[in-house]
Amino acid sequence: MPVLFDNENKIIHLQGKTVSLCLMCHPEYGLLNLYWGARLEDGNVSYLLDAVYDGASFDPKHTRFPYDEPVRGAGYYQTPSVCAINERGDDVVRLKYESHEIFRGKKALNGLPMVYTESADEATTAVITLKDPLTGLCVQVSYTLMETLDVITRSVNIGNAGCEKLVLTHMMSASMPMYGSDYDVINLSGGWARERYVNRTPLAHASFRVESQRGSSSHEQNPFIALCEKTATEHNGQVWAMSLVYSGSFLASADVNNFSTARMSIGLNPEVCRWNLLPGESFQTPEAVLVYSPDGFNGMSQRFHKTIRTRIVRGYWRDQPRPILINNWEATYFDFNEEKIEKIASKAASLGIELFVLDDGWFGKRNTDNCSLGDWVVNKEKLPGGIKGVCDRVNRMGMAFGLWFEPEMVSPDSDLYRAHPDWCLHAEGRSRTEARQQLILDLSRIEVQDYIIEAVSSVLKSANIAYVKWDMNRNMTEYYSYGREACRQTETQHRYMLGVYRVMETLTNIFPKVLFEGCSGGGGRFDMGMLYYMPQIWTSDDTDPVERLKIQYGTSFVYPASAMGAHVSASPNHQTGRSTSVKMRADVALGGNFGFELDLNTLTDEEIESVRSTVELVKRVRATLQKGTFTRLESPFEGNYAAWQFVSDDGEDVIACAYRKMTMPNPYPKKFFLKDLDEKANYRHAETGNVYTGSALMHAGIVFSGAWGDYQSAVYTFRKIG
Ligand code: GLA
Repeated sequence: MPVLFDNENKIIHLQGKTVSLCLMCHPEYGLLNLYWGARLEDGNVSYLLDAVYDGASFDPKHTRFPYDEPVRGAGYYQTPSVCAINERGDDVVRLKYESHEIFRGKKALNGLPMVYTESADEATTAVITLKDPLTGLCVQVSYTLMETLDVITRSVNIGNAGCEKLVLTHMMSASMPMYGSDYDVINLSGGWARERYVNRTPLAHASFRVESQRGSSSHEQNPFIALCEKTATEHNGQVWAMSLVYSGSFLASADVNNFSTARMSIGLNPEVCRWNLLPGESFQTPEAVLVYSPDGFNGMSQRFHKTIRTRIVRGYWRDQPRPILINNWEATYFDFNEEKIEKIASKAASLGIELFVLDDGWFGKRNTDNCSLGDWVVNKEKLPGGIKGVCDRVNRMGMAFGLWFEPEMVSPDSDLYRAHPDWCLHAEGRSRTEARQQLILDLSRIEVQDYIIEAVSSVLKSANIAYVKWDMNRNMTEYYSYGREACRQTETQHRYMLGVYRVMETLTNIFPKVLFEGCSGGGGRFDMGMLYYMPQIWTSDDTDPVERLKIQYGTSFVYPASAMGAHVSASPNHQTGRSTSVKMRADVALGGNFGFELDLNTLTDEEIESVRSTVELVKRVRATLQKGTFTRLESPFEGNYAAWQFVSDDGEDVIACAYRKMTMPNPYPKKFFLKDLDEKANYRHAETGNVYTGSALMHAGIVFSGAWGDYQSAVYTFRKIG
């Protein structure tokens, strides 16, 4: 088994293909995390513990200990992993090792998204039980080695086996001591329309916090953090990364202590979550995915991509070719009727587009964004034939039909709100803060969850709806729940997420063939939690291709191309006012789940031909775009160019995409160097028929062939010919 127990030294060794993690079950100090890094032949690194005791110090020895599950109150001063206030009012905890078990496979996390297995021989799990003798706090740490994926998952179950009430104030999913502090820290931050920009910062002698308190994983930060060697690059150097399988508020941090030792943690955000644990109850943390890469950021990303594509995303659409869609939002906003929709759809159908998506504005009296969320009944003034009418027409054109919902929301001006004013998140006696003139339904309540399941189901059953865009267009304020016990109000944010997951689990089970696409004002809830239910997510409301280079490049640090919705929209762009060619827009959009978001009737004949040929190209190569290995070649954050490539799993098909932002006079040739090809094989370039060896494409490079002028692109497709 790839998870070994050395009984003499009490070491559990998770030994992957490229990674090792060594834990020591210590009779006095509980569970110690001795090593996480490159694969070791032998997990006995108990000698490392000697160094921990070395030297005189002002601090107790606990300050230096590499606890796997650090607690407060005994001289450990970095972010604790678990903290429980007891009935005497203190939060001192001592976790003693009790037992452990190692087994093949991986257990489900009740009600939470997770990395799953399809058979027990894909994974081995070690569950280590730690207990506080005084309070009965019982902590079960689960580590799973996903063997083929070469990643490790970690989650914690916190039980109360005592007889007093405990209040959990910290419930982190992973907390890893690192050697030294000479690292850079990587996080993905942004805002609406500029999501997941890559930040690289030298780790200071301080605490580095990445967090959301917004009740969604957020545009502002992504639930991801990585430490890397100072010399690490896209293709070389060591990287240690964590990402959370969760869609709500989170905290990820990298702290450096006075022994210049870093600790990296990720989990629920203690600022907005406290949990009451009565005797006999237990609390399950979300799962963290831990990636060690010996080969730079691309190595890290490729491990995340494969994990997400094959063992987070589930169901029918996991391996199916994703349809090329057209969405009417930027074409019409709220101003549409059957005739307009038909015109947009029929042009799209004539170009080979496969799915028409009707966005916001089809229900209630919603002609602007100030009303009707919650009233999921078709607006017959706009669509006299109802959803079925428009759906049937689209189906007759040969396209599937999809629909936008924002199920977690309610407009104050809605029948739902008038009937149930207490169904939104709010604090008694306080005004209700609106954002986009809407409030958030209280999904921590089962009756609200059931209402949503019923309302969405009845629309989905009313017509042949093949796709749902599930939007969530504001963040939480007054995140409290009507009627909940006062001491449990601080549980509301997490209970809301559990409610969202229950609703999504139920609906995706009832409608297993419907393709769900997540959305939150673009990419405000782009995380592994959502991807467990919805195989793709709208990456950003920003469809400007130049901005999208950064957004898609940054998103690819963790998430595969098959998770990212990417559309060709109108020029000038509605978010930036920038004008670009339809080719540039399409070449960027094919770096994700390709689609359109404009009225194609407004394009010139030449532009239509460009659209037609990109649609044909995407259909020809989409298996590689969606399932191949994605490699970043050149960063739009660092210069005037960006480039990436996709290689099919069998290595036969290669797609390279290159982009230039600004033009230059009197230019010199710009080359891109492909990666990981077969040095000796020949590759035929489909567009010209030219043949190159793998070594030429990788070392001599390909010369950028984009047209003259700003914002140009080129897509090269190669096939191995032996
Ligand atoms: C959000 C989404 C958009 C669109 C609008 C509709 O902003 O990100 O794509 O669906 O809502 O209101």
